[in-house]
Amino acid sequence: MSNCNSSIIDPPTLSGAVILLISSQLVTNYSRQVTPVYYPNHDGLDVKNSSFCNITVSYTHPDQSDVVSVEAWLPIDNWNGRLQVAGGSGLGPGRVDMSYGNMAGAVGEGYATASTDAGIATPLDPYSWVLDSPGKIDEVLVRHWGGDILNDMAVIAKSVIQDFYGRPPDYSYFNGCSQGGRQGFELAQNHPDAYDGIAASAPAIHWAQWAPAMFWPQMLMNTMNEYPHGCELDFLTTLAVQECDGDDGIVDGIISSPKRCSFNPFPHVGVNFTCFLEGRSMELSRAAAVIANASWTGPTDSDGNFIWYGLSYGTDLSGDFTGTGIAAITCTNSTCKGNPVPLAYQWIQLFVEKNPDYDYTTITRERYDEIMRVSGAEYDSIVASGNPNLTEFYRVGGKMMTYHGLYDQVIPIQATEQYYDDIRKFVPDVQEFYRFYEVPGLSHCFGNGQPTTVFDALRAWVENGTVPSSLPIVLTDVHGEKNNRIICPYPETGVYIEGCGNPADVACFTCAAD
Ligand SMILES: *[C@@H]1O[C@H](CO)[C@@H](O)[C@H](O)[C@H]1NC(C)=O
Ligand SMILES: *[C@@H]1O[C@H](CO)[C@@H](O)[C@H](O)[C@H]1NC(C)=O
Ligand SMILES: *[C@@H]1O[C@H](CO)[C@@H](O)[C@H](O)[C@H]1NC(C)=O
Ligand SMILES: *[C@@H]1O[C@H](CO)[C@@H](O)[C@H](O)[C@H]1NC(C)=O
Ligand SMILES: *[C@@H]1O[C@H](CO)[C@@H](O)[C@H](O)[C@H]1NC(C)=O
Repeated sequence: MSNCNSSIIDPPTLSGAVILLISSQLVTNYSRQVTPVYYPNHDGLDVKNSSFCNITVSYTHPDQSDVVSVEAWLPIDNWNGRLQVAGGSGLGPGRVDMSYGNMAGAVGEGYATASTDAGIATPLDPYSWVLDSPGKIDEVLVRHWGGDILNDMAVIAKSVIQDFYGRPPDYSYFNGCSQGGRQGFELAQNHPDAYDGIAASAPAIHWAQWAPAMFWPQMLMNTMNEYPHGCELDFLTTLAVQECDGDDGIVDGIISSPKRCSFNPFPHVGVNFTCFLEGRSMELSRAAAVIANASWTGPTDSDGNFIWYGLSYGTDLSGDFTGTGIAAITCTNSTCKGNPVPLAYQWIQLFVEKNPDYDYTTITRERYDEIMRVSGAEYDSIVASGNPNLTEFYRVGGKMMTYHGLYDQVIPIQATEQYYDDIRKFVPDVQEFYRFYEVPGLSHCFGNGQPTTVFDALRAWVENGTVPSSLPIVLTDVHGEKNNRIICPYPETGVYIEGCGNPADVACFTCAAD
């Protein structure tokens, strides 16, 4: 028996908005195999035979002619008294496959959960919504996408929970990675009392710098008119790993202390090596050294000044291993061209140039400087989510946790480090409310080494005051061996205790300064 009926739901009160529709639908026998890919900060789970009430609230801001929908799933028999809202992914603010996976995991564990579409009906196709007309962005939707509707979701979810269960949630959480991570930071900054706890990993903060920065190696390849083969970049990564692997005390094929690494690719130009992907021998070109080096150092302007961070040594630059590489190329027969991350060129075409047909392959060095400048000037106030003043979030007792892979191939981990360091200017004891974990070997949000206990640690912190310290990960090394390791609150890392013996033994690691 259930009371899954929209008639028991009072229209939530949102200032400046009008509720258009509240729909209800009883969902029974719901199943989904939720892998950790879809459930960041948690372990995966096999959700079977779940029953929940799907309450979807649609509303508009009358002066904006928008329709925003928040979809909430409320467990029928096994509510654990808590709310866990799911963040978005890529350009999608929510109600995309990734968010639905997160929602499935959440209901499977007894949480009430929710996701918002931010008014964007087709989030996977930015060409359909970003521009009103060539030269003009849809200001309302872009601001919604940037996060001005994120607090509405918290208000709606809590209101619907109150009406459905007859009481508010005991605790409310936000969960996400990447776009979802950025949304978590946005909430901590601008809506500090929306959630008790925020798990916000590999956050796409400083979006206006980060998104076009991903295009940096592509612009260089286009202007040089040279497209180094992925194997060349992979070879350089292998050399960097050989040189720097042991810096962290263990040789396992993984660079755990990239800051100690200062690998120089240029002396290797002209070296012959075997490209295993194509089963042939190759000679390392100078262009490959230039592109790998540029990917590691990050964009600079025409005068050589820093614009944005680069990626760590060891990350997949070519996309050969993760499917996404900022320096990826595609070759047909013997003709090669750049294969940029879609988000990088979509950002430039739609948001910066405001022309869906803009030919990004023609971007010059000077134009790139201008693109970076315009991007920041026009979008920092909408989507940066990079304000480190978390004073209010701290004051109201909020807690936040973040993991970020040291092998993140799209979002430079150094931007997240910088944010952590900047918080300290406002809250010196940052660790009293925020803990950030760098994860050796992990690529963007998921993969080898993905931490699966971040959310539970956050809950224990919020609910029991159990301060999170080290967290376990399982790291598979180059030989396929699974190693139990720990990750530690930044600036400490899980350090191998010299002479301890078996580096697969978790007892051989301790949290210490890198
Ligand atoms: C419930 O779902 C499972 C898996 O999708 C299916 O095999 C089963 O037949 C369903 N049961 C009912 C009663 O519909
Ligand atoms: C599925 O869930 C329903 C509702 O909670 C329950 O009555 C039923 O026994 C469950 N079926 C199985 C196979 O567990
Ligand atoms: C929940 O309801 C909304 C609105 O009707 C619908 O779009 C969505 O697909 C539903 N989700 C599920 C899991 O039933
Ligand atoms: C930081 O935020 C707090 C609370 O919102 C505010 O009172 C304070 O003025 C801010 N500090 C700075 C330097 O902007
Ligand atoms: C809080 O502590 C109680 C008592 O030790 C325990 O049962 C519960 O699981 C803890 N809750 C969390 C979220 O860790």
